[in-house]
Amino acid sequence: MDRYCVFGNPIGHSKSPLIHRLFAAQTGEPLIYDALLAPLDDFPGFARAFFREGRGANVTVPFKEEAFRLADALTERAARAGAVNTLKKLDDGRLLGDNTDGAGLVRDLTVNAGLALRGQRILLLGAGGAVRGVLEPLLAERPAELVIANRTVARAEELARLFADLGPVVASGFDWIDAPVDLIVNGTSASLAGELPPISPRLIAPGHTVCYDMMYAKAPTAFNRWAAEQGAARTLDGLGMLVEQAAEAFFLWRGVRPDSAPVLAELRRQLN
Ligand code: ATR
Repeated sequence: MDRYCVFGNPIGHSKSPLIHRLFAAQTGEPLIYDALLAPLDDFPGFARAFFREGRGANVTVPFKEEAFRLADALTERAARAGAVNTLKKLDDGRLLGDNTDGAGLVRDLTVNAGLALRGQRILLLGAGGAVRGVLEPLLAERPAELVIANRTVARAEELARLFADLGPVVASGFDWIDAPVDLIVNGTSASLAGELPPISPRLIAPGHTVCYDMMYAKAPTAFNRWAAEQGAARTLDGLGMLVEQAAEAFFLWRGVRPDSAPVLAELRRQLN
């Protein structure tokens, strides 16, 4: 059977094996999918050894940049992201690097949540790898404006410069802006510590603005709790993005698009 895996360190809590096994069962694709703890000091050697037999891999923290360097060829969105979350062994033995995180976010926003992003004013919080990974697919939806706000403004400015050719993207500090936007996506790691990016409540138009935290947890994240208190029309968490980026990877590997809805429902059930 074809072998797939997710590389990470740590890897114990990865939900990828569960997601891909559910996709495989649902589509009847014969495959094995494992979580592999890759060594911090030799990701390339570990990954190459896997790919002597393996057909594909997901890559998670902290190896996405190393996987980017390992890949022999890159998709346009991975090249733009500067990070790879999906590797596929091509027929000629070369490794193709892709990044499905942004497509996963966009699919969760548009297909699952039913939002149209075209012409919208979008605020992205953060300027780390998580945000960089989603910029190209978000800009491809043709928003009216995409503001990247970050604690360290220089990092937001750098990203805005790197992606300026793809659409109307501008950088900002957290406290420079207070006009309401249509969608706020939190891509900072502040939620991990139960913290909030210090942004103005006026960015949320009560009953209109949708808020999305790329993080997820059993209970609503600090950002989503705050957004709900400000009257956000909806608050969404990143569990859907997780399942959708996996579905995109599965499609890249197998050419079959799994139905993500029942898998997302199962993950939500297990989280609660
Ligand atoms: P990732 O790859 O997960 O995006 P990262 O590259 O370390 O991780 O980036 C983390 C992001 O969260 C950054 O935008 C960081 O802001 P800085 O660039 O100013 O460091 C942001 N961040 C982390 N903790 C935060 C907090 N408590 N408040 C606001 N922003 C925070």
